[in-house]
Amino acid sequence: MKLWGGRFTKETDQLVNAFNASISFDRRFYRQDIRGSIAHVTMLAKQNILTEEEKEQIISGLESILSDLDSGALSIDESCEDIHSFVEATLIERIGAPGKKLHTGRSRNDQVALDMKLYVKDEISELSDLVKKLLETILTIMKDNVETYMPGFTHMQKAQPVTLAHHLGAYFEMFSRDRSRLRDIARRMNTCPLGAGALAGTTYPLDREYTAQLLDFDGPVLNSMDAVSDRDYLIELLDAMAIIMMHLSRFSEEVIIWNSNEYQFVELDDAYSTGSSIMPQKKNPDIAELVRGKTGRVYGALMSMLTVMKGIPLAYNKDMQEDKELTFDAIDNTKGCVSLFTGMLAAMRFQKDRMRESAAKGFTNATDAADYLVNHGVPFRDAHSIVGQLVLFCIQRDIALEDMTLEEFQAISPVFQKDIYEAIDLKTCVEKRLTIGGPGKAAMEQVITVYEQSLNQ
Ligand code: ARG
Repeated sequence: MKLWGGRFTKETDQLVNAFNASISFDRRFYRQDIRGSIAHVTMLAKQNILTEEEKEQIISGLESILSDLDSGALSIDESCEDIHSFVEATLIERIGAPGKKLHTGRSRNDQVALDMKLYVKDEISELSDLVKKLLETILTIMKDNVETYMPGFTHMQKAQPVTLAHHLGAYFEMFSRDRSRLRDIARRMNTCPLGAGALAGTTYPLDREYTAQLLDFDGPVLNSMDAVSDRDYLIELLDAMAIIMMHLSRFSEEVIIWNSNEYQFVELDDAYSTGSSIMPQKKNPDIAELVRGKTGRVYGALMSMLTVMKGIPLAYNKDMQEDKELTFDAIDNTKGCVSLFTGMLAAMRFQKDRMRESAAKGFTNATDAADYLVNHGVPFRDAHSIVGQLVLFCIQRDIALEDMTLEEFQAISPVFQKDIYEAIDLKTCVEKRLTIGGPGKAAMEQVITVYEQSLNQ
């Protein structure tokens, strides 16, 4: 059934029907569509625009459609233009005349704006829960690894020693910001478009505050033209998801590097890796690579949506229908990637000995040797140059700083004493970094307590 056949004398071209229809993808929010309709007729009856009896009939009709769709007893007829037409046509089929009053004081423009908001609100809360699980997983690993030493890198070159807890803490920060971004979006978008009509409100005495309240919104959107044509919240969500994916992609990149034959900092669980059809020895980090790859899709959705919206005059225009497939695909992929990554991380084994061995090589304690000199009165710039000479000496002999004899140290600078060995010991190097935000155990434990509390907020 078409909702708008009256003024037409010709059938729509078949290709046009197919091009125009949205039912193949907006079918996924039939629950939200029915929920919105129930709130709408409840308000219409309260305002005496519908009788109590009509309201009851419509609501029980809508509820029967909902439960039949949920159970599979009713299937969605894809020859309808959209989910709104399908629900309305099925309602009229089931309850007759009162069903034709459902759309009083409403347009598909405010209806679809509402459905999408309701759908997205649910999805934001699910995504937020998934991000929380990821944060919990990261925190569990952090707690176990405040003394697991590993090299910290800049430019992919070993820089200074850190701990696994410290390294993962950076990701905890990133995903915490993601969680708070999602929360901000949910708060900002929480106004109800229903009652805006096509664009200019309606002449019926609708109670928009009441429908907003029934649907758990803070209140109605205060401009009816904005209500039907605002898609900012989708752009914000796509942006938040693009950032989540960017974070996951960076983390994936590290997992791939750590899992490489050269590093062997981690071993992926068999359940989260794949083999090669030709090379029997292979165990590939496909999940991490796919997460990294899918990041592009989500970025693409954000760019597409910004581009769709950039030239649209007020108010509703059909271009906006493009919001759905883009947003749905991005949501599905982001949710999928967050939960797969969480599973992979939880099952990953950290090769702590390898990490420690690697941290002990590559002169990650060179800064600490310079700090030793500074603590003995040498200006930092001179200390830097002296340690540069130590490093060169070691490179030529393929040894580490701590392998040098005291005489060799003193030949380069007489300031060095026996306690230099203690000062450049890996453990000292990490544990002395006690300013808040650093890897030292006491500082790290303090931060972990804060993180733990943040998860319950
Ligand atoms: N499928 C449409 C969309 O997603 C619903 C709104 C249709 N409104 C209209 N005036 N044609 O945007």
